[in-house]
Amino acid sequence: MYAITVKDLVKKFGDFTAVDNLSFNIKRGEVFGLLGPNGAGKTTTISMLSTMLKPTSGKASVNGFDIRTNQDEVRKSIGIVFQDQSLDEELTAYENMDFHGRLYRIPKSIRQKKIMELMKLVELDDKKDNLVKIYSGGMRRRLEIARGLLHEPEVLFLDEPTLGLDPQTRNHLWDYIEALNKEKGITIILTTHYMDEADKLCHRIGIVDRGKIIAMDTAENLKNDIGGDVITIVSSEREELYSAIRSLSEIKSVEIHDSSITIGLQNAEKHVAQIVNTASEKAITIESLFIHKPTLEDVFLHFTGRTIREEEASAKDKMRMMRKVRRR
Ligand SMILES: Nc1ncnc2c1ncn2[C@@H]1O[C@H](COP(=O)(O)OP(=O)(O)O)[C@@H](O)[C@H]1O
Ligand SMILES: [Mg+2]
Repeated sequence: MYAITVKDLVKKFGDFTAVDNLSFNIKRGEVFGLLGPNGAGKTTTISMLSTMLKPTSGKASVNGFDIRTNQDEVRKSIGIVFQDQSLDEELTAYENMDFHGRLYRIPKSIRQKKIMELMKLVELDDKKDNLVKIYSGGMRRRLEIARGLLHEPEVLFLDEPTLGLDPQTRNHLWDYIEALNKEKGITIILTTHYMDEADKLCHRIGIVDRGKIIAMDTAENLKNDIGGDVITIVSSEREELYSAIRSLSEIKSVEIHDSSITIGLQNAEKHVAQIVNTASEKAITIESLFIHKPTLEDVFLHFTGRTIREEEASAKDKMRMMRKVRRR
């Protein structure tokens, strides 16, 4: 039985297609990640599945309820932590929880007990009476997760759960998320543009780019698709290098990128000398070379020809441009 089914889901804003024909299923008890750069369509997808946004076309069900025709049932059976903070700063942590509990009509006696249990779970029980405005970013995130669990949802949506948090706090949150899944069996669908987050938490990952899922599998299988190890060579003579080495029998794949070429092969350390020799015979200059086990970044590069980091940079550049324009 699936917790979530998605078939040919589309969302258009005017003539721009933000979510382009997505199809996937998520099993009960699974942690499923949508990994992709800014603007890939992750939040839009989550918004449709949680009935905050109407799909343009396509079908989806959550906990067996149709997101178009059974919105109330969908909402009752899910918890959501939004990408943007949604706590009331002027209330205490406890009051934020209590307010949410009332919205879901949880009777007072159960509500009090449940709030304390969840605040203990995210280690905020001793700070329950502090105003949220003095909470740190990590504490707010933990409180939002606790709040999302108050009505005991079977499915939890986490939109960029560790966005902007420091590495230590992120690690801490990852532990909670793992524990929720393992100990309570909650199905989790999360979005992230952090590769390490998807790698650490998700049983399966759908890599999204420009509204499409371009690859979907376990992190391990996605990395294996590249073919063993990766050698990255930075050189200005990439075309020449490509022609020189492409016929070497050990090499499984060679791709040319903006400033480097990447080579996929097994046991890279055994073959790197041969590759360097071949380059030097052809008088090709190598600026730098490194060998590594493939990461999800390599997987993204493999399928799109770009890195997620380049995407991030370009998104930031765009924002800077917009600010400049506005200032004029
Ligand atoms: N309400 C909206 N109106 C117009 N365009 C939108 C709206 N919401 C999102 N978009 C666009 O849809 C694309 C996907 O956005 P989003 O789902 O937020 O991406 P992600 O969460 O992966 O960063 C972006 O190009 C964004 O600008
Ligand atoms: Mg988003």
